[in-house]
Amino acid sequence: MSKDKVQIFDTTLRDGEQVPGCKLGTEQKLIIAERLELLGVDVIEAGFPVSSPGDFKSVSEIAKLVKNVTVCGLTRAVKKDIEVAAEALKYAKRPRIHTGIGTSASHIKYKFNSNKEAIIERAVEAVKYAKTFVEDVEFYAEDAGRTDNEFLARICEELIKVGVTVLNIPDTTGYCLPEQYGAKIKYLRENVKGIHKATLSCHCHNDLGLATANSIAGVVNGARQIECTINGIGERAGNTSLEEVVMVMRQHPTLGLDTDINSKLLFDTSKMVSETMGMMVQPNKAIVGANAFAHSSGIHQDGVIKNRETYEIIDPADVGVTESSIVLTARSGRAALAYRAKLVGYELTKIQLDAVYQEFLKFADSKKEVLDKDIDTIIAATDPTIQKVAP
Ligand code: KIV
Ligand code: ZN
Repeated sequence: MSKDKVQIFDTTLRDGEQVPGCKLGTEQKLIIAERLELLGVDVIEAGFPVSSPGDFKSVSEIAKLVKNVTVCGLTRAVKKDIEVAAEALKYAKRPRIHTGIGTSASHIKYKFNSNKEAIIERAVEAVKYAKTFVEDVEFYAEDAGRTDNEFLARICEELIKVGVTVLNIPDTTGYCLPEQYGAKIKYLRENVKGIHKATLSCHCHNDLGLATANSIAGVVNGARQIECTINGIGERAGNTSLEEVVMVMRQHPTLGLDTDINSKLLFDTSKMVSETMGMMVQPNKAIVGANAFAHSSGIHQDGVIKNRETYEIIDPADVGVTESSIVLTARSGRAALAYRAKLVGYELTKIQLDAVYQEFLKFADSKKEVLDKDIDTIIAATDPTIQKVAP
């Protein structure tokens, strides 16, 4: 079955970099941008050029460096921002300006002390102005998650008339439920005249842990771009995690959706971004966490040793992890101990295994995890005559 392509818009270097303490220098950003291109993303949001000379330089250097990816710069719906972004993007093979304004009742009233008509006017002016510099203009309706659908549809329709290419519907505060976010995208698809002329984009934050679910609900309902970051980094609880949405689509072919991401690079890319930003990945993080393919309870270990798929829905090799790991703890059973002892070089008979297992339990009770070198100690303490058959 042929699949519909979902574009991956990576914002690790813009929204992701807004994490306190994670500011990157241009050199570091260039290394990450090169890796993102290799990974197969469609768009790199390289920064917010007007925000600082450093951001301007990074966007400009990334624009010169990457060849096959659209490079995008963020702006507010402000002329100066748009001019500066256009200047930073002038060497890009495929430049995109990403402009926008808050559209929810709360943004209109408190942030702008304005009204709906004036917001539409500013949005239209911003897109028209950006179009004088580049063909590809994306508009974000900030806080679209809490914007009423009718107003959102009106603004989208006006922007399509002036040539917007991508309509970004951000759940800026991570408030929506997946059904609500999906319904919002569906509403726009069904109620905005000319909607087929623009791509709808999901930009979901993770304040309620729903960013991945919401982005998937968005594409199931017709959006064709997901904005996301490596490891899901970003302000507060973060953005949608790139590796998660990519693997949801891969593991569920019945969705009929896919991306161009080379999933075998996911683990390495996660590690690289985490090390460069000094931002640790939680061990239980889906797809790329240290424990994502680690099994520690006896029942699970026995199942995985017999057949990996008993407790794994992804082949670790598909995301660049060499193999599943069997972690030895006091909850491990004989099967796991025999398996790991064999990897270290011991072929234990059933009688030997029974004896070694008793010694192992005593040892494991006093340690969080039993390592390979501990297996030598445990076997020597049980029966010094047991020798390795392989080094
Ligand atoms: O979350 C958000 O609304 C944003 C926009 C600036 C795109 O990051
Ligand atoms: Zn955001």
